[in-house]
Amino acid sequence: MKTYLVTGGAGFIGSNFIKYLFNKYKEREIKVINLDNLTYAGNLENLREIESKEDYKFIKGNICDKNLLESIFIKNDIDYVINFAAESHVDRSIEEPEIFVKTNIVGTQNLIDSAKKHWQIENEFIRGKRFIQVSTDEVYGSLGNEGYFTEETSLSPHSPYSASKASADLIVKAYFDTYKMPINITRCSNNYGPYQFPEKLIPLLINNCLKHNEVPIYGDGRNIRDWLYVEDHCSAIDLVVSKGRLGEVYNIGGNNEKENIYIVEYIIKILSYMIKDMNINDKLIRYVKDRKGHDRRYAIDASKIKVELGWKPRHNFEEGIISTIDWYLKNRNWLQNVTSGQYEKYYSKMYLDKVSR
Ligand code: NAD
Ligand code: TYD
Repeated sequence: MKTYLVTGGAGFIGSNFIKYLFNKYKEREIKVINLDNLTYAGNLENLREIESKEDYKFIKGNICDKNLLESIFIKNDIDYVINFAAESHVDRSIEEPEIFVKTNIVGTQNLIDSAKKHWQIENEFIRGKRFIQVSTDEVYGSLGNEGYFTEETSLSPHSPYSASKASADLIVKAYFDTYKMPINITRCSNNYGPYQFPEKLIPLLINNCLKHNEVPIYGDGRNIRDWLYVEDHCSAIDLVVSKGRLGEVYNIGGNNEKENIYIVEYIIKILSYMIKDMNINDKLIRYVKDRKGHDRRYAIDASKIKVELGWKPRHNFEEGIISTIDWYLKNRNWLQNVTSGQYEKYYSKMYLDKVSR
């Protein structure tokens, strides 16, 4: 039995990953400990279908809390750490950078340090242990019209979010170079799918359309992101855990570059077919002030993980986006719950700021 410590497992990708593991592996093959401090983005509702499993345990706590990490490693023989825990939204990082430094940099350093301490016997790492840092393509910065990010591309982050993720990557890599700690870093492009918090483009767009609110497009709407269905990200991480070469970085992406305006118009069109009586149409689109330091284009070259580990995405965009929209339509309660409380206040302030030119 392998024991995973998944951090940030109540968030979007972490919760999808935990469910992916329980679907893929048989009972008693794996045990999952989910450490999450349930920020605005963490939600235990995301894990309802697996929460009663004997081999699943939730711990509410912060990756910055060294004593807690110590007690988790003492009480459990952890084989793998998969670090999803992060502040993850660029717009918030522009407003409040400090928490990004705390969680994404200091938290990651605490976590890897605790793992190091418990995974060594006389300076040698116990075989089979592995620390996975779940990073992002945003650490590479921005591309022009041509070219792709490879694992060799130098780091050039622009937002406080991507700068904090790049810093964490460097710390994790330094633990390999210095101590031969068994690590991997994965850098994935933009994810979409069920359970994504409606602050990111796709769920925000769906949520706004369902409420007949305007959909803000930053700048000229021609910025490009490379979209991947979340389950394909999960399968890639799972492969890296079992087969990745130690110390290596793996880029993950689905070769699916789209301009933001294309995404917005496409989803509005699908919604207008699916819900006839709400008058959802392009008139909801509102061009607003651009995001500060807005990266123009991201595009991932994922040939390394494809060639070395045999990974390939299983979902194409057209099919993935339909299942995503369908999920949000069937789970309006979920949307309602996560957008109650502070949500309206926070986002309407941000929105008002963006529309005031
Ligand atoms: P998310 O914001 O949905 O979830 C983050 C989770 O981390 C939440 O459950 C939150 O409660 C938890 N968390 C935050 N601070 C914590 C702390 N100090 N201690 C413990 N838990 C904490 O984010 P996501 O979209 O699921 O992203 C997960 C990871 O994947 C992040 O590291 C992100 O950088 C990376 N990533 C995301 C994308 C994407 O498109 N969303 C793409 C590539 C990489
Ligand atoms: P986002 O989902 O925030 O992810 P990231 O910034 O990490 O790529 O944004 C995706 C793209 O959509 C990005 O270019 C910013 C843009 N965007 C809008 O135009 N309007 C919005 O309301 C949001 C949230 C994002």
